[in-house]
Amino acid sequence: MKRSMQAAEEELLALLEQNKRTFLSTREMSERLRVHPYVVYQAIKELRRWDFEISSEKGKGYKLLRAPDLLLPGEIKRKLRTKVFGKEVLSYRTLGSTNQLAFRLAEGGAPEGTLIVADEQTKGRGRMGRSWYSPPRVGLWMSIILRPDIPPFKAPGLSIGAGLALAQAIGHLTGIEAKIKWPNDCLLNGRKVGGILLELSAELDRINFVVAGVGVNVNQRSSDFPKRLSSLATSVRIEYGEEVSRMELLTLFLQRFEAIYKDFKKKGLAPQRRLIKKFSSLLGRSVAVRFGKEKIEGVAEDIDDNGSLVIRTRKEKRIVRAGEVTAV
Ligand code: BTN
Repeated sequence: MKRSMQAAEEELLALLEQNKRTFLSTREMSERLRVHPYVVYQAIKELRRWDFEISSEKGKGYKLLRAPDLLLPGEIKRKLRTKVFGKEVLSYRTLGSTNQLAFRLAEGGAPEGTLIVADEQTKGRGRMGRSWYSPPRVGLWMSIILRPDIPPFKAPGLSIGAGLALAQAIGHLTGIEAKIKWPNDCLLNGRKVGGILLELSAELDRINFVVAGVGVNVNQRSSDFPKRLSSLATSVRIEYGEEVSRMELLTLFLQRFEAIYKDFKKKGLAPQRRLIKKFSSLLGRSVAVRFGKEKIEGVAEDIDDNGSLVIRTRKEKRIVRAGEVTAV
C-alpha cells in the first residue's frame, strides 16, 4: 500500500496554492517552511510526480499552474467544515480495501470520525460478499469509523443515513436528483452510482464500532465500466455530462453525513423521515425482497426510524431489516 504525500509536500503545496499568481523562489519557500532548500527541491519533484503542473523560471522560482483532483489529507482537513468526521485522515494511492484497513484501525482504538480514503482499491468489497470495482482516481472509495452508543439492531439506519447524505451531496453539486434505494444504494437516473457497506463489531446489546464504507462512481466514462456493470452502474460524470471534483463531493457528503449522524444517535432516522421518503426510489412501489431463502412481495410502504423497510403484503404488514429488493 502506498501512503499519500508527506508533510513537507503538503505544506509546500499549501504555500503554492496561497500564492497562485506569483512565482516563489526556493529560498523564500525554504525560509517560510523552515526546511533546507534541498527539501523544497525534492518536494517540487514529488509534486510533479503526482501530476501537479508547476512551472519554473530561472531567477523567479516556481508557480503552481494546475492541481489534479487528488484526495490529500491536508487538503481534506483544510476544506472540511466538520467537527468530528475527517479530523483524522489517512489517504492512500492504492489500498486493498478502505473498509478492511478501517476495521483494523478501529480494533486498535482509532477515534470516531477517522476517515480512510484511497485513490484505488484492489480488493474493494461490496455487500453480500461481492467485489466493488474501484479503479484509480475516478471514484470516492472511503471508510469512516463510527462509535455510536446504540444497540446493534439500530445500525442499519446508518446505511440509509449515509445514502441520504450522498444523494443530497450529489444533488447539491449537480442539480440532478439522486435516489436512495433501500438498504444501501444510491441511484442516478435509475442506475447505481454509489453503495454503502456497513461492517460492525458488536456484542449482543452494544456496538463497539461501525465502519461505514462508501463507494461513489464519480468520474468514470461509460466505456470505463466492465461489461458486467455497464447496464447497471453509472457515474456522476456520465449523468451530469462533465467531470466533477471528487474533493468537493467528498466534503459535501461528509458534512451532510455528520449532521445526519449527530441526529441519528439521539433520535434514529425520525428527523430525516420526510427527506428519506422524498429521496426513496421504492416507496409506494410493488417490490420483492429476498433475504436468505425467504421472499416477501408487497408494496414498500415506509422506512421506519431504525432504517427497516415496511412492506404491506396481501395479508399483513412486514418489517424487513435487511435483504435485496427489486421493484416488480
Ligand atoms: C455495495 O455493495 O453496494 C456496497 C459497496 C461499498 C464499496 C465501498 S468503497 C469503500 C469501502 N471499501 C470497501 O472495500 N468497500 C466500501
